[in-house]
Amino acid sequence: MMNSLSIPKVLQATLISGQYHESSAPSGRLPIQSGFWGEAMNEATDLMHVQQGVAAARAVDAAKIYGHGDAAVRALDGITVEFGSAKYTAIMGPSGSGKSTLLHCMAGLDRLSAGKVFIGDVDLSTLDEKKLTILRRDKVGFVFQAYNLVPTLTASENITLPIDIAGRKPDRSWFDTVIDTVGLRDRLTHRPSELSGGQQQRVAAARALVSRPEIVFADEPTGNLDSKASAELLEFMRKAVGEFGQTIVMVTHDPIAASYADRVVFLADGRVVDEMDAPTADRVLDRMKSLGGE
Ligand SMILES: Nc1ncnc2c1ncn2[C@@H]1O[C@H](COP(=O)(O)OP(=O)(O)OP(=O)(O)O)[C@@H](O)[C@H]1O
Ligand SMILES: [Mg+2]
Repeated sequence: MMNSLSIPKVLQATLISGQYHESSAPSGRLPIQSGFWGEAMNEATDLMHVQQGVAAARAVDAAKIYGHGDAAVRALDGITVEFGSAKYTAIMGPSGSGKSTLLHCMAGLDRLSAGKVFIGDVDLSTLDEKKLTILRRDKVGFVFQAYNLVPTLTASENITLPIDIAGRKPDRSWFDTVIDTVGLRDRLTHRPSELSGGQQQRVAAARALVSRPEIVFADEPTGNLDSKASAELLEFMRKAVGEFGQTIVMVTHDPIAASYADRVVFLADGRVVDEMDAPTADRVLDRMKSLGGE
C-alpha cells in the first residue's frame, strides 16, 4: 500500500474521486395542496423536481475566459446544458471548441469566469476548495485527456489512489471486474513509463471507474485505444450507466464511440450548437460534416 502523504497535495486534490452512492432520488413532492394556490404549488414543486431531480450535472450560462486583453481566449461562451442522471452523454466538437474546459469546470477542477455549474443540486461556486475536494472525492470520477498518472506508482496503485487517499478499502471483486474489462491484469505492477499510451489510458479509465462515482467525466477515454480495447471500455461504461445508474459524460472525436451514448451534445467555439438523441455512428458523422468540424 503506498503512502498517500507522499503524493503532492495538488495531485491529491486533482485525482481524488470517490465511493459509490445510491443515486439520489429526488426528494418527494410536498404534501398534496388543494385549491388554486395549492395546485400552483404542486406544479411548481413538480417543476423544481424535474429541474433538480433529473440532472446529475448542469451548466447555466457558463463562460470561461483564459488570459487577459488581446491574449484573452473565450473557451466557453455561455453554455447552458444538462446531463441527465443515469444517462450517457457524449460531447463532440472541433479541436479547441471547449470540450475539455467544459469537463474540467463541470467537475470542479477549474473555476468558471461567469455562470454556474451544478453537481446534483450543489452550485460549485458556493464551495470553498476543501468542500469542493470532498464533493469531487465523493461523487465525481475523471478520466483525463493526458492521463495524469503518478509516475512513481504502479498501475494498480494509480488505480486505487483516490480510494487510498479517501482512506477507504477498494471493493476487490469490483476492482477485478474493472481490471479484467480494461485488460490490465498482467500490467498491474508496471509503472506508467513501462506502459504503452493505450495501457496508460486504460489505467486512467480504471482509476475513474473503480470507486463507482455517481458521475464520471471522461475526456477522450478511447483516443489512444485500438478498436477492440475501445469497444470493451465503451461497453463497460454503457453497462455502468444501465446497470449501476452511473452518469457518464464523455468527450470524443469518434462517431462510433459517440454511438454508445444516449445523447450527443455538439460544441463549436465554446457554445452548444446542436444535440442528438439516440445517436448512430452514421448520423453523428453526417452531423459533424454539416457542422463543418473535423
Ligand atoms: N490554460 C489555458 N490557457 C489559455 N488558453 C487555454 C487554456 N486551456 C485551454 N485554452 C484554450 O481554450 C480553448 C478551448 O480549449 P479546450 O482544451 O477546452 O479544447 P478542446 O475542445 O478540448 O480541444 P481538443 O479536442 O483539442 O482537446 C482553446 O482555444 C485553447 O487554446
Ligand atoms: Mg480536449
